[in-house]
Amino acid sequence: MSVVAVDQAAFRRVLGHFGTGVVVITGAGPVGFACQSFAALSLDPPLVLFCPARKSRAWPALERAGHFCANVLSESQQPVSTVFGRSGDDKFAEVSWSPAPSGAPVLTGALTWIDCSIEAVHEAGDHYIVVGRVETLGETTPERPLLFYRGAYAGLGPTSQPPPPDLEAFLTGLHPDDWM
Ligand SMILES: Cc1cc2nc3c(=O)[nH]c(=O)nc-3n(C[C@H](O)[C@H](O)[C@H](O)COP(=O)(O)O)c2cc1C
Repeated sequence: MSVVAVDQAAFRRVLGHFGTGVVVITGAGPVGFACQSFAALSLDPPLVLFCPARKSRAWPALERAGHFCANVLSESQQPVSTVFGRSGDDKFAEVSWSPAPSGAPVLTGALTWIDCSIEAVHEAGDHYIVVGRVETLGETTPERPLLFYRGAYAGLGPTSQPPPPDLEAFLTGLHPDDWM
């Protein structure tokens, strides 16, 4: 089978059409970086995943700490994402935070947060797949999420419908074809 080389620019352009939320993965140090490769992975046991680049400077410190906190950013936190989306030593200079039970920073103003221990790390091309076991779930706020789509930040916009009241049933009512 011949392997067709995928053009990197085309890969970024096409994959950029998959809109996501934005989290800041933080850890004791403090260290942190902006991340869109974050997802819920398993309900039982409660696992999530994120994918740091091999060149990430924050990742080695996170791996040593053995814990991380995923801060889900709200629409008004685009400047926070910009700061954590760049390499640098003073990312926390302009942001206020308080420690999660693991000691990892919970950024003030985050939509919610998920505090985790590192369960497994898998190599995958120029990134790692990090599996986290959820230890503590943060409070949620009525803010709206910061989104990232086609290389730019976006918001939900004024017209979007509020989530259905029985979100709990939607998320945890296990139906055969539910994805989780
Ligand atoms: C919206 C957004 C999403 C990002 N998603 C990821 C990601 O999923 N994985 C990753 O390794 N870097 C991602 N980055 C890039 C890192 O945040 C960036 O390279 C940062 O400088 C890494 O910091 P570090 O070198 O201190 O780890 C993203 C950046 C932005 C702005």
